[in-house]
Amino acid sequence: MDRIFSVPLKGGAYTEVYSAACLEEMEKGLAEYGGSVLAVADRNTEGYVPEGMPCLILEPGESEKNWHSVEMILEKALSLGMARDSVFIGIGGGVVLDMTAFAASLYMRGARTVLVPTTLLSAVDATLGGKTGIDYGGAKNIIGTFYPAESVVIAPQTLRTLPDREYRCGLGEVIKHAFLSHDRRLIGFLSKNRDGIIARGDDLVFEMIRLSLEVKMDYITRDPEERKGIRSALNLGHTFGHALEALEGFSISHGEGVVWGMARAFEAGRLLGITPGGYADAALSLISDYGFDTGRRIPASSLDRFMEAISKDKKKKGGSVRFVLMAGQGEPVLRPLDGEVVRSVVS
Ligand SMILES: NC(=O)c1ccc[n+]([C@@H]2O[C@H](COP(=O)([O-])OP(=O)(O)OC[C@H]3O[C@@H](n4cnc5c(N)ncnc54)[C@H](O)[C@@H]3O)[C@@H](O)[C@H]2O)c1
Repeated sequence: MDRIFSVPLKGGAYTEVYSAACLEEMEKGLAEYGGSVLAVADRNTEGYVPEGMPCLILEPGESEKNWHSVEMILEKALSLGMARDSVFIGIGGGVVLDMTAFAASLYMRGARTVLVPTTLLSAVDATLGGKTGIDYGGAKNIIGTFYPAESVVIAPQTLRTLPDREYRCGLGEVIKHAFLSHDRRLIGFLSKNRDGIIARGDDLVFEMIRLSLEVKMDYITRDPEERKGIRSALNLGHTFGHALEALEGFSISHGEGVVWGMARAFEAGRLLGITPGGYADAALSLISDYGFDTGRRIPASSLDRFMEAISKDKKKKGGSVRFVLMAGQGEPVLRPLDGEVVRSVVS
């Protein structure tokens, strides 16, 4: 495996990000972590667990992101006699990775963690930054720890089996990173290679993930524990998007919600004179080029329910929601938005 880059962590440690050009290379790389390992996967990703490696296979899906699954991981680790320097290897989407890293953070007060993302979303969003956790009492990610992985292994071949809907979901987060990037490399790459990216050519997928991770790395290294407001910019599109997801009973994917939310944020920014018109137009056109529906509107009959979903987000965040708006390429600004502005850009 090749090391792509190292993400500096507190106390002089690093998360090392590796690439594996093919599945054999990934297996060989994972074998180097030695004998005391536990791979965690789900039924859709168990095929990527190297032959003979001790493993726990969970049922797939967000509904499994709970204490019971974490207990199963910890019990398996105990039954294998794992020590603090043993390695937990999560192989799967964000659900598997968040739980594997959470269990590792608890095991003997912190065991070693390696993450192998097998969805585009988890590759670009759930591997760096150290957020681990589970859902509880109906609230997403409400219990968890900050526990950055020791290594992340990007193996684009694993994405070949990913259903289209999940791939598109990840594309939404990649497009978000393209807008947040301080330079135009990712946005240029997405504009130039649309067809190849949609067809999932391994090399293009890898380059897209690498560029996207660089953007995430930039934001998290400047605000590792989300205390300075810098990292909050990564929520671009999320407040509008979550409210749409809630309104639709979660029948649309998270990525589609985020992309729709970004389109609303560009419109709100333009309305308030924060986002230059030309920039907003170019951003909306990139979003549509990737087949996302930017024009969808909330019908008048559902507007109150939508506003209620926004205000629930507000309560969760201690009374005020600051929306992420864009003043230009890589220039996020956080602003509370007046109800009238929200209504006018969604309806
Ligand atoms: N820790 C973080 O910073 C962070 C960031 C973003 C999201 N997340 C979390 O990630 C989760 C969402 O991640 P996700 O979108 O990857 O969802 P997921 O883990 O539920 O995976 C989506 C579906 O794809 C299947 N799958 C995964 N890889 C596959 C493959 N290669 N081939 C075929 N099927 C495959 C899974 O089994 C699942 O059914 C949420 O729980 C979210 O909270 C965490």
